[in-house]
Amino acid sequence: MTLLQNLLKRKNPDDAIANAAKGGLAKTLTAWDLIILGVGAIIGSGIFAVVGIAAAGSADGATPGAGPALILSMIVAAIACVFSALCFSEFASMIPVAGGAYAYAFATLGEFAAWIVGWILMLEYVIAFIAVSCAWANYVVQFLKGFEFLPSFISNPPIWLVSDFRSAVNTLSAQGTDWHSVIPTVFGLPISINLPAVLIILAITLILIKGTKDSSKMAAIMVALKLGVIGIFILTGLFYIQPSNWTPFAPNGASGVFMGAFIIFFAYIGFDALSTAAEECKNPQKDLPIGIIGSLVVTTIVYTLVALVLTGIYKTQGSVDAGFLSAPMAFSITNVTTGWVARAIPGFISIGVIAGMTSVLLVMEMAATRILYAMSRDHFLPKAFQKLHPKFNTPHILTWTVCIISIFGTLTLNLDSAAALCNFGTFTSFIIVCVAILILRKIDPERPRPFKVPLCPWTPIAGILCCGGLMVFSMVTASGSSATLSTELFIAWIIMGALIYASYGYRKNRIAEKEIANESDN
Ligand code: ALA
Repeated sequence: MTLLQNLLKRKNPDDAIANAAKGGLAKTLTAWDLIILGVGAIIGSGIFAVVGIAAAGSADGATPGAGPALILSMIVAAIACVFSALCFSEFASMIPVAGGAYAYAFATLGEFAAWIVGWILMLEYVIAFIAVSCAWANYVVQFLKGFEFLPSFISNPPIWLVSDFRSAVNTLSAQGTDWHSVIPTVFGLPISINLPAVLIILAITLILIKGTKDSSKMAAIMVALKLGVIGIFILTGLFYIQPSNWTPFAPNGASGVFMGAFIIFFAYIGFDALSTAAEECKNPQKDLPIGIIGSLVVTTIVYTLVALVLTGIYKTQGSVDAGFLSAPMAFSITNVTTGWVARAIPGFISIGVIAGMTSVLLVMEMAATRILYAMSRDHFLPKAFQKLHPKFNTPHILTWTVCIISIFGTLTLNLDSAAALCNFGTFTSFIIVCVAILILRKIDPERPRPFKVPLCPWTPIAGILCCGGLMVFSMVTASGSSATLSTELFIAWIIMGALIYASYGYRKNRIAEKEIANESDN
């Protein structure tokens, strides 16, 4: 068999479905549970933190903000997601197996593409995990500032304990302080770690290793909390809207709107993770499309309302306060309210936000370990990763691996660069899913499709153009160290993936094929 034939070797969807049926995962999730899980996975640091940069631009001026046109950015990002969500729905109802986009790529594009998609999904889920833990840390630090009776290293910790080195240097130089006078060094090496982010990564890892039997109940409580907080923000904010804040509507023109759409796309990531729960659904054919599209619709409505209120109560043009960029909702509402409302609301918002982000963290680390588990089952990664915990029956080695990689990630990435990097990975996986829909319609037109993408091939093509367009646009438009770092890291990630496949996955798959052939001969 030639190299090319091996690279394009597809996994029969029927085999994948038969394997999944043997898996024995409890089938408990209904359409309603899926919408709750979806909203739990989607609404997090995007709307609670990243939205500040989408509206006002980055502090270093490298990324233009959308201003009040943030609402348009939200709609553009939602449209890019809807096309892909429809394609995910067709796949999820047709091949309802855990593994999501990775499994779909294996069924349509073959072995090499499946590996690259899995590798890119890691970028999406692990980097989202890092990004959200950084945002979680920002909010916790902000929240603890109110507790002045606590020891000062908790209520007002030094910057080198709550920040990666690069962000700490940027913040200090913006204040005109030389970092050498603030950040300690050991053997000449500066020590600056985001300790709260490291602690939440460890806590989520321990929860996942112990198992998440009640995860949908927990998700429902966290979703209620975060929707409650957003509801209070919108209802309170409505009374403080100053229409003058909405002019000029798009201070940076189309460039600001599209860059805002690229950045805020991060806030929509998560609905695709629902497809990895396919094996745990009561009726995946009908319920998964409802869950995926339903959670996207709820999120889009919530986000556009937040965009209207946020830009209506705070002037997002010119120089904005650093507090707005790290915790925009809490900051802007405190800025306009007075008396007990001003005192009570930020604390309440922070509690809801911290709970809301925790549910996103749980889903992201769980999705990352599930995909890695499926990849290890397919001989792309060492078998040791499939080992389950003797007591809790969870893939503990994989979960610890993701934990350690993420802790290293918090040493070099901050919220902005991690979110941009995660967007690159997600756009690429969405594009591949849209392409895969077109291919499977051609090569396997008779396969039953309980949910069909409407207006095919135009919908998948629109998905490819929207996601590809936003990605290329951001690469061309953004300048500055954070943006360049994300683009470079993305390219390096793809090259690293191809090298690992060439030196490990390709060989192991051929060995596995020989073993299967020998077994059937005997
Ligand atoms: N959509 C997720 C969030 O905003 C990743 O936190």
